[in-house]
Amino acid sequence: MKCLRNWLLVLICAAGSVPAIAQLPAALIPEPREIEVLEGSFRLSQSTGLRADKALARTADLLGDYLTATYGLRLKGGAAGKNTIRLVVDRNAGDEAYTLRVGEDGVTIAGSPAGVFYGTQTLRQLIGQTNDGLAVPYVFITDGPRFGYRGLMLDCGRYFYPVEFVKQYIDLMASYKLNRFHWHLTEDAGWRVEIKKYPELTRIGAWRGSTQRGPDPVRDQDRMPHGGFYTQEQIRDVVRYAADRNVTIVPEVDLPGHTMSVLAAYPELSCTGGPFAVPTTWGIKEDVLCIGNERTIAFVEDVLTELAELFPGGLIHIGGDEAPKRRWHECPKCQALIAQKGLKDEHGLQSYFIHHLQRFAASKGREIMGWDEILEGGLAPGATVMSWRGEQGGIEAARHGNPVVMAPNHYFYFDYYQSKDLAAEPFNIWGYVPLDWVYSYEPYGRELTPEQCRNIRGVQANVWCEFIHDEDKVLYMAYPRVLALSEICWTPAAKRDYGGFVRRLPERLHELDRRGVVFRIPEPLGIDRAEVRGNRVVVALEPLVRDARIYYTTDGSDPMVYGKLYTGQIDVPLAFDGVNIQCVVRLPSGRSSAIYKVTPREKE
Ligand code: ACM
Ligand code: ZN
Repeated sequence: MKCLRNWLLVLICAAGSVPAIAQLPAALIPEPREIEVLEGSFRLSQSTGLRADKALARTADLLGDYLTATYGLRLKGGAAGKNTIRLVVDRNAGDEAYTLRVGEDGVTIAGSPAGVFYGTQTLRQLIGQTNDGLAVPYVFITDGPRFGYRGLMLDCGRYFYPVEFVKQYIDLMASYKLNRFHWHLTEDAGWRVEIKKYPELTRIGAWRGSTQRGPDPVRDQDRMPHGGFYTQEQIRDVVRYAADRNVTIVPEVDLPGHTMSVLAAYPELSCTGGPFAVPTTWGIKEDVLCIGNERTIAFVEDVLTELAELFPGGLIHIGGDEAPKRRWHECPKCQALIAQKGLKDEHGLQSYFIHHLQRFAASKGREIMGWDEILEGGLAPGATVMSWRGEQGGIEAARHGNPVVMAPNHYFYFDYYQSKDLAAEPFNIWGYVPLDWVYSYEPYGRELTPEQCRNIRGVQANVWCEFIHDEDKVLYMAYPRVLALSEICWTPAAKRDYGGFVRRLPERLHELDRRGVVFRIPEPLGIDRAEVRGNRVVVALEPLVRDARIYYTTDGSDPMVYGKLYTGQIDVPLAFDGVNIQCVVRLPSGRSSAIYKVTPREKE
């Protein structure tokens, strides 16, 4: 068979030599380790069989359910000759690795159980609609991840999201081969996990009277009660749901700071005795857990015990970030403990506390992870550092020999803006992290030796919810940036290429639109490349979502209302005040982007 290699080749052959099915593109995200696209396509139809080794029954069910929900196909089990999708365990395959072969013999995905799950995700992305029905291009793919930890966080502490949405979030991230859901379960603004031994955590700590909706902590209060928590039964259900998708949950209880919700419920765990309320504003709060109090130590041990029972994954995230030291400085109990243990100061006290959590978690068979502040005052052995204040903490921890997950805020805080045109974006906290910038991240910094690089276990993006108060906004902030994250986590560094990513994006965004995901619609290609030629302006635009349409105006009027359908290069007189072209992108679902302004090409 002739190897076509390049996914861009869409052969729509002339009449006379028409093959059965037009060649389909293979627009995969994340890009696999190795892919050969071959001439020809496999027809997927009601008569196609689906067979799986016993250990892969759940993965086969998920694939079957997807094909039914998306295409109305109900594939039968049992033998169907060559017209079959086969899922096979390959005991020699690496962790999470698989091969996918689509050819005249049908479809075969072989790998480790996790690898086969990822093979089915790849297969889903390969299925295309042709005039002749559903088809999958002939391919041979050899694939496996670059990093073992491929994470995405959701801040359910600051805003409560129901179980159904958490599941959708996990299901989506798994489509892009991410495998760690960091569930930020506790915050000043709310405690979200049922702990049987401390019922007040969720009776009191899960609820607040109001939410700050805008920049002003006083004027922008909505005065609407908000809250909620996950019962242990619900958590077990989410853990199972995630495991079916090869996603391990990393639960976070943020300690010893960001604990106002704990103190509102149990003020005796503070240095001052309170009273406290669950705050309706965000930011760093002065009151933290009193480490010098034995009841605090018993409390955190009890919480870790219940968490270890609920979450079978190896890691528990204990937070450790943004804990002010003033209360400890003034607290007789904390000062007594500093003296008794011969600690240097309050930083030593924080480190003592984290070391204690590490040892206690180890006694339950768990390792701890913490924000990079856990480096302060001495790092606990084996603790995984999540580097968020840039990369420096991660670099230091990797040099020290500790495992690291890179989540530097200036690349991976997906609550930061995606555009500089703030009028076109929903209000958010601050920052600017556009898609191409996310994609440009390379986890192996130049400061580290190859051996130290091995301590970098992966990368994670975080969706903080100070100002994200609905499900669609979560998805808008996360997507399409999660797709860039996925490629950083999965694809070999040498194969990463933003141009290629952008060419594969339209197919994937078309799919997300079909799935009803309210992602941020990217500006069309060419938007920043208008050419001023004498007294005319010329620009060619291309949407980054397949089958999307662009509507534009050239006189500054609203393209949502007055837009003309873009059918080819715009070539119009230059307005007296310069380039005055604006456009919107309308998706197949009917959803429109914000208004994007065409700007002149920067001089190179
Ligand atoms: C953090 O953003 N405080 C981890
Ligand atoms: Zn204290």
